[in-house]
Amino acid sequence: MNKVSANEKKNLANFSLDKRTYHDWYQQSLHAPEVFWRAQAECFIQWHKPFSEVVSGDFAKAQHKWFVDGKLNVCVNCVDKHLAQKADKPAFIWVADNASSEQMITYRQLHKKICEFGNTLREHGVKKGETVCIYMPMLIDSFVAILACARIGAVHSVVFGGFSPQALQSRLQAANCRFLITADGFSRGGKTVLLKPNVDEAVLDTLVERVIVVQHCDKPVYMQGGRDVWYHEVQSKQAHCEPEIMDAEDPLFILYTSGSTGKPKGIVHTSAGYLLYAAMTFRYVFDYHAGDIYWCTADIGWITGHTYGVYGPLALGATSVIYEGVPTGPDPALVWKIVDRYQVNIFYTAPTAIRALMAHGDEPLNQSTRKSLRILGTVGEPINPEAWRWYHEEVGNGQCWIVDTWWQTETGGVALAPLPYISAQKPGAACLPFFGIEPKIENVTEENGRAQGQLVLTRSWPGQSRTIYGDHQRYLSTYMSQVPGAYFTGDGALVDKGGDYWILGRVDDVLNVSGHRLGTAEIESALVEHELVSEAAVVGVADDIKGEIPYAYVCLVEGVDFDDKITAECQDLVTKHIGKFALPNVIQWAPDLPKTRSGKIMRRLLRQIAKGDVEQFGDTSTLANPDSISKIIAQKP
Ligand code: WT7
Repeated sequence: MNKVSANEKKNLANFSLDKRTYHDWYQQSLHAPEVFWRAQAECFIQWHKPFSEVVSGDFAKAQHKWFVDGKLNVCVNCVDKHLAQKADKPAFIWVADNASSEQMITYRQLHKKICEFGNTLREHGVKKGETVCIYMPMLIDSFVAILACARIGAVHSVVFGGFSPQALQSRLQAANCRFLITADGFSRGGKTVLLKPNVDEAVLDTLVERVIVVQHCDKPVYMQGGRDVWYHEVQSKQAHCEPEIMDAEDPLFILYTSGSTGKPKGIVHTSAGYLLYAAMTFRYVFDYHAGDIYWCTADIGWITGHTYGVYGPLALGATSVIYEGVPTGPDPALVWKIVDRYQVNIFYTAPTAIRALMAHGDEPLNQSTRKSLRILGTVGEPINPEAWRWYHEEVGNGQCWIVDTWWQTETGGVALAPLPYISAQKPGAACLPFFGIEPKIENVTEENGRAQGQLVLTRSWPGQSRTIYGDHQRYLSTYMSQVPGAYFTGDGALVDKGGDYWILGRVDDVLNVSGHRLGTAEIESALVEHELVSEAAVVGVADDIKGEIPYAYVCLVEGVDFDDKITAECQDLVTKHIGKFALPNVIQWAPDLPKTRSGKIMRRLLRQIAKGDVEQFGDTSTLANPDSISKIIAQKP
């Protein structure tokens, strides 16, 4: 087996993978991982102190460590590293809502802003290793805040700006945050959305001592003396900010994501392994070349925003577009005009956005050429062939490579993808494993003549999350115990005759609403907060644009009649506990829920009823209360 040669290392920024190289590297990543990852880690990461061992520890117990004893600073790798050659290269081109203004920031300017922000955090008492919460919209300052944390060794916990005060509060509490960075508000679709009032509500009953507020709107917001400070008023004047030297395995961030219980999981990612995986996947999955202009539309509140908005592109010294608004509207032509204006080569978005744009027809496309595009990525949920074709043929003029990237918050970066120019281009297939990813399909069953099962990953990879914050046992029971010795993804999958992987959707109680991950249990626990709701069950129903939408069944306490008031109050509860994006499209009364004799709700039946597919229910022999079905159907709106 060849070692990645010194020459190849030098050329990493200038070639595209070909089939042979992919195959050789992939085999090497499995059969000589020490050799493979050592070469890649030396190439992609600037080490303060070299690592002594590539990987050690027990994968089955999730005790593995990557790049043992290595020291680095992630911010240095994303910014300082580029100053010698690329100081005047734009790191970000920020486009305001509706493209009403733009702002370009070079690597040198970014470095200065990060140092000032880092010093400000230090001056306010932020310590190495402590968790700082970031609740911000898509502003350059949000990226600066994230990188400032990385620079001073603080762990960031970014909470999506669409989350409600209560959802923010529980995340602040779970990570014991003393510091919160936010903005007064932002614009979306021409409207000002204030964030600060949510913060005021959220910080009650938390350990938050200091709220640093970035000013972005011209609307007044409440500032509590002694607690809240405007960033521009307290901004450090000191330009030099010594980066903290971190261990390879020191946590870089926590990101809360939904699981099959009501309690979100704080997914922990490390410094070196995560950074390497972000950088490498960015380089090879998107075939990034020096000079490319790149645009990932994901919000920084989700993992895609972390890995492919912040760390991957910056580790490679790329230029990225950041858009303040939502890419799908109100003007559906705008996204493509932005592509033309900045000559974007690589564009990455979610199927739900593609479908929403597709719904406007081809007319909005006529206002742009999109000739600069070379790679079109999608992520977050399965893409339907119709949307895939529209993306490929209409958006990409049939000229672009489509990368349907499958991965998760927990995987840190892309795990399966149709690698540019070497995979097949099959609408809906995630195709090939990335280096170091060894997928397997377990518990195989035959459905519609196809063998399908649960997707597991049978060895550790550098980007793997190491634990759930404060609850390693939960990590083990969620991911490492379903299939002993393997990481359980929660997704169904199959391999076709050509050896390509297809993702079939979740096999657990997790929904994917517009690419936003939601646990049905989270919505259910919001609904049962209602004093008249005795029990709730939420299932996902297919939706043309959003992919999936929640459909809720509520049982009421004895003697109460279901009415519009209860519906509205239930909606308010979901908005309050999670956020508007989690709202069920239907909340219906269920006189009784179908349950097995052991008391488990038969969600399969509820899914069928929600879909309107009520002729045949398959095997219901384990059902304890068969008449519950007709009662529910009778109440269906
Ligand atoms: C779940 C992870 C990964 C960043 C965004 C979502 C689903 C993700 C695909 C894809 C089919 C996909 C899976 C996965 N998913 N990408 N290309 N095709 N399904 O991250 O919130 O952690 O959600 O999203 O079900 O398990 P996440």
